[in-house]
Amino acid sequence: MKTEILRMLKEAAGYLSGQELCEHFGVSRTAVWKVIRQLEEEGYSIEAVRNKGYRLKDSSDILSKAELESAMEGNFGRHVEYYDTLDSTNLQARRLAEQGAGHGTLVVAESQEAGRGRRGRTWSSKEGEGLYMSLVLRPDILPSSASMMTLVAALAVQKGIRETAGLETVIKWPNDIVAGGRKLCGILTEMSAELEGIHYIVIGIGINVGTTEFPPDVAIGTSILLETGKAVRRSQLAANVMKAMEAYYDLFIACGDMSGLAEEYNSLMADYMEDVRVLDPAGEYRGKALGINPKGELLVEREDGRLERVVSGEVSVRGIYGYV
Ligand code: BTN
Repeated sequence: MKTEILRMLKEAAGYLSGQELCEHFGVSRTAVWKVIRQLEEEGYSIEAVRNKGYRLKDSSDILSKAELESAMEGNFGRHVEYYDTLDSTNLQARRLAEQGAGHGTLVVAESQEAGRGRRGRTWSSKEGEGLYMSLVLRPDILPSSASMMTLVAALAVQKGIRETAGLETVIKWPNDIVAGGRKLCGILTEMSAELEGIHYIVIGIGINVGTTEFPPDVAIGTSILLETGKAVRRSQLAANVMKAMEAYYDLFIACGDMSGLAEEYNSLMADYMEDVRVLDPAGEYRGKALGINPKGELLVEREDGRLERVVSGEVSVRGIYGYV
């Protein structure tokens, strides 16, 4: 029975109900629970959730400095600062950058106590559910160009998710990664700069990997597990995102703007050539999203034919019927 339960746990897309196990084997709940305990003693990590059942946490989905660094293929993420828990990887990356952390340093945490989202929002960052990481970059570009880095990161996350999980996602301008109309990843880019130059940029990436429940205010969320039914190794996901990030970053720096990446970005954009609502603090309007220009601005053709260049920041763009 132990071997059979283990096989069922491995094949299950999500939770395996205790009741179903009892019925399948014709045994009591206590008998099932005893087998689960035995498996745990053998080193398997099994999550038991009331009213849901048991879930085998992929034993290879371990995050540690050695695990992450050994998965990396390029220069971004070659040096990892790993923590079991942090207030926020973005805050820690900024602290380390102030102390001289180099270009390409990656800060990763298993959980965050004060995960930060855009516009002062929080980012739910529970242990084992997501990938929370922040990349320190020191590009020789003008501060006015820094907001484009967030679009570069969106491309990299999209590619990293596709390569790791085989999941096709789209980008909701400027930098939300969306699957099935729901948000799978958020990116928070922060910088320290003077008028003439950037000290450092921190690109914070939060990917929902195994999340199955979202707080009511994040009803629009989804995860790789929910979309594919599969668990992925977060270290491999981090490495694939970093590899893609380095390649896109090099192209961005070579061009000096998004001109070399705009075509690919637009091909992945949710609402491309569709009607959108632009939530501008100066007044909401509707129009058709024509894609980004080389500066990373979203071009929107208003209903009266006027062309608007939407700059990220205070403005949100929504589909006509909802979030996307
Ligand atoms: C958003 O609001 O869409 C952006 C969310 C960004 C969350 C990530 S998780 C890793 C990094 N550390 C943080 O505190 N925030 C970012």
